[in-house]
Amino acid sequence: MLDWTDRHCRYFHRLLSRHALLYTEMVNAGAVLHGGTERHLRRNEEEDPVALQLGGCEPTALALAARQGEAWGYQEINLNCGCPSERVQRGAFGASLMKEPQLVADCVKAMRDAVQVPVTVKHRIGIGRDESYDFVRDFVGQVADAGCEVFIVHARNAWLEGISPKQNREIPPLRYEVVHRLKADFPALTFALNGGLASDDAVTAQLAGLDGVMIGREAYHNPWWLARWDALYFGAAPQALEREAIEEAMVDYMAREQTRYGTPWPSVARHMLGLRHGLRGARLWRQVWSDHHLKEWPAHAVMVRARAAQNAVQDRADQPA
Ligand SMILES: Cc1cc2nc3c(=O)[nH]c(=O)nc-3n(C[C@H](O)[C@H](O)[C@H](O)COP(=O)(O)O)c2cc1C
Repeated sequence: MLDWTDRHCRYFHRLLSRHALLYTEMVNAGAVLHGGTERHLRRNEEEDPVALQLGGCEPTALALAARQGEAWGYQEINLNCGCPSERVQRGAFGASLMKEPQLVADCVKAMRDAVQVPVTVKHRIGIGRDESYDFVRDFVGQVADAGCEVFIVHARNAWLEGISPKQNREIPPLRYEVVHRLKADFPALTFALNGGLASDDAVTAQLAGLDGVMIGREAYHNPWWLARWDALYFGAAPQALEREAIEEAMVDYMAREQTRYGTPWPSVARHMLGLRHGLRGARLWRQVWSDHHLKEWPAHAVMVRARAAQNAVQDRADQPA
């Protein structure tokens, strides 16, 4: 998710789930080719498996960027056909690509010819107010003909005018039934549903008829949810994860990042602010980890202070009235 996720976030999420496939935010193919490959593609091996999502509409540039992504170790290359932002529309990629299925097919084909790893597509179910099923069915059909076998479907239309990208994730109605219809019409293809999933019940209901789900905002805001996924959805033995141990692993990572690349700890810590979501004292713990006045402190000392702030709330709550 642009402006939210990065390799530090994926390092954190991977501590919580070993099996979930993680995606990068959209990386512009042009930026990969001309803006410093390392800056855009640097990753930690501990993040694996990770798919690189590319934005672009030029088959040759996308193929070259996909090849770079594969060389940097990404296990899947995904093409964004779902982003409605104006900047992206001006570049004629993102969601507006859905209006040009042949171009998307050409992009997919060029990328597939360039890499061994799977090339997948993330898209919406329609553009503007047109809710006809034929539009998305034909899009999927044409892109599948070019060799794409995996579709991640954000189950709402993209309205390209009049609303912000944020509103575009909230206002156009979710229509999960469209994704199920796609699965029925293309049973050999793999469909993962995305949009508005925020509980195990909601995920389980979708997995009954589809191949997978993608979770965005809830995973970011409530990352502890991920700690249940391996056992619930991947058949793994339950792990006895503790929030404290995850926080400590992140502090070690912050120290390593600081030494190797000069990364200030707040750039890493910002992703884990939801770790204690819903627990007593979480707000005070979070306030310490977001306090930029402490940015010169070693991350370990910040953790000690954050825990003290959280425990003080607990101690007060434990005292007899
Ligand atoms: C801040 C933010 C940035 C996003 N950036 C991307 C992006 O780079 N690529 C993408 O495919 N979707 C992006 N999305 C959309 C999400 O991937 C997802 O499709 C959408 O939020 C609906 O799923 P959710 O309800 O699980 O969050 C972004 C969402 C947010 C909130």
